[in-house]
Amino acid sequence: MAALFITFEGIEGTGKSTQITRLEAWLRSRGRSVRVTREPGGSRIGAELRRMLLSLENNDICPRAELFLYLADRAQHVEQVVRPALAAGEIVLCDRFADSTVAYQSAGRGLEEETLDALNAQAVNGQWPDLTILLDLAPEVGLTRALSRNRAEGKTVAEGRFEAESLAFHARVRQGYLRLAERFPRRIRLVDASGSIEEIAEAVRDIVEARLDAG
Ligand SMILES: Nc1ncnc2c1ncn2[C@@H]1O[C@H](COP(=O)(O)OP(=O)(O)OP(=O)(O)O)[C@@H](O)[C@H]1O
Ligand SMILES: [Mg+2]
Repeated sequence: MAALFITFEGIEGTGKSTQITRLEAWLRSRGRSVRVTREPGGSRIGAELRRMLLSLENNDICPRAELFLYLADRAQHVEQVVRPALAAGEIVLCDRFADSTVAYQSAGRGLEEETLDALNAQAVNGQWPDLTILLDLAPEVGLTRALSRNRAEGKTVAEGRFEAESLAFHARVRQGYLRLAERFPRRIRLVDASGSIEEIAEAVRDIVEARLDAG
């Protein structure tokens, strides 16, 4: 069956992980073979990079160093995980990918968008997603969800460096994502993430089903 590379994007707490789990179950129930992965941290080397990238201890990382670690993670992940899974005919569901770099490092941190596009192209090495689900939500709501999730899991409330960022930062990142959706209307599908988990899951299924039917 046809391989498909689907990425999930959106600010913290929009429900990316929740919806990937739902979509994975639905695809498996339809007999599809699915590979769930994420960035950063989808490969063995990436897991080490993820720890460095998200640790609150590394608050002194400069924006360019941060960028290159994300790109290193992506290059390794594409070659070691994404490409082989697609070659094996699997549907790859990836929690964050190249759009996160543009949204967070450009809109969020202020690096130049054209530079990020060029560096992303190097890291992705031709393996762009077939489809990107962009979960869109007000940052107040997303962060509240993410913080209560962390509390429920017994973690420090602001578990990672991005959760500890200001609301203004996340509002810029959201706008960065919305601009990406305008730039790439064929690849990126915008989904309102303010509804219930089930409503969003249905919207995501409809988009994916249409894409699978289209072949
Ligand atoms: N539609 C929804 N309505 C209410 N709560 C939700 C909804 N979707 C997810 N949640 C809850 O919000 C929290 C955050 O969801 P989730 O972890 O899936 O978000 P995420 O986008 O993966 O966040 P992060 O970027 O931090 O990984 C979880 O506790 C989840 O159960
Ligand atoms: Mg998540």
